[in-house]
Amino acid sequence: VITAVVSRKGGVGKTTTTVNLAAALAGIGKSVLLVDLDSQASASLSLGVARTQFAPSIADVLFRGESILDTVRPTSVDGLHLVTSSADLASFDIDFASDPKKELLLKSALSYVREEYDFIFLDCPSSLSLLPINALVAADRYIAPVVPNHLSLVGLPNLLGTVSRLHRRFDKRTELLGIVPTLVDYRLKSHRENLQAIRREYGEKVFAMEIRVNTRLAEAPARGQTVFQFDAKATGARAHRLLAAEVLMRATADRPEPGALENGSDSNRIAI
Ligand SMILES: Nc1ncnc2c1ncn2[C@@H]1O[C@H](COP(=O)(O)OP(=O)(O)OP(=O)(O)O)[C@@H](O)[C@H]1O
Ligand SMILES: [Mg+2]
Repeated sequence: VITAVVSRKGGVGKTTTTVNLAAALAGIGKSVLLVDLDSQASASLSLGVARTQFAPSIADVLFRGESILDTVRPTSVDGLHLVTSSADLASFDIDFASDPKKELLLKSALSYVREEYDFIFLDCPSSLSLLPINALVAADRYIAPVVPNHLSLVGLPNLLGTVSRLHRRFDKRTELLGIVPTLVDYRLKSHRENLQAIRREYGEKVFAMEIRVNTRLAEAPARGQTVFQFDAKATGARAHRLLAAEVLMRATADRPEPGALENGSDSNRIAI
C-alpha cells in the first residue's frame, strides 16, 4: 500500500508522523519503505542520514532515470528502508514544467518496489506543487495531518478538492486513509473547539488518535532517531504506536466506500 502524507500548510507534523508511523509499523514486523520527497530532507535527517550521505537519492531516479532499487537503503530501524531526498528536488517543478508525463514520474518509479513492501510512505513537501501531486497520483491512500487551528483547517477542504480533481484527471482514486490531528494542545480552548469541528465535519475519516505536543517528538530528529529509539516511553511514542494500529486496521479493511468527502468542493465547509 502506497500512502502519501500531504498537507498544503507547512509545519503540521507531516514528517514527524511519517517517520514515526513508519517506524512503528516496522516495529510490529511490517516491511516498510519511506520515500523522502522534501528537498529539505527532514525525514532523511530524522532517520540519521548525514547530508553528505544522501546520494543516491530520489533525485537520481526522477532526474536521471536511475532505478529506484539502487537508491533504497536500510536504516537503523529493523524493517524500515529509506529512499533519501536531495536539495536538487527544489527545482523539480521548473525542470519538468513542460513534460507531458510530469505527474506520473514517481508512479512509474515506484512500480519497481511497490510489491516488495507492506507499506510505502511518501513524505511530501508542504504545498500541492508537482512533487506532492506526483505522490498523490502514485499513492493508493493519503494521510492528512492537521493542526487544530484555524489556518490549518481552512486548507483541508482545499486539499480534498485537489485530490478529487486528480481523480477525474487521472481516472484513479486515491482514498483518504485518514485525517490525523497533530500538535494538539488540549489546554487551548481553540484546539478543543476545532477538534470538535473537525470530527463533526469529517466523522470517521478522522483517526481516533490525536497526537499531542510532546517535546520528545521534537527532540528525536536532531539525534537522527525515531521517537522509539530516543524515548520509547514518551507519550509521542505511544501515540504513534496507537496510530499505527489504526492505520493497520484501516489499510487492511476492505476498500472504504467512496466517501461523500472527496466530492467536496474547494469551499471552506468547516464552521469555525
Ligand atoms: N507532536 C509534536 N510535538 C512537539 N513537536 C512536534 C510534534 N510534531 C511535530 N513537531 C515539531 O514541529 C515541527 C514541524 O513538524 P514536522 O517537520 O513534522 O512538520 P512538517 O509538516 O513535515 O513540516 P514541513 O512543512 O516543513 O515539511 C518540527 O520541529 C517537529 O519536530
Ligand atoms: Mg516535513
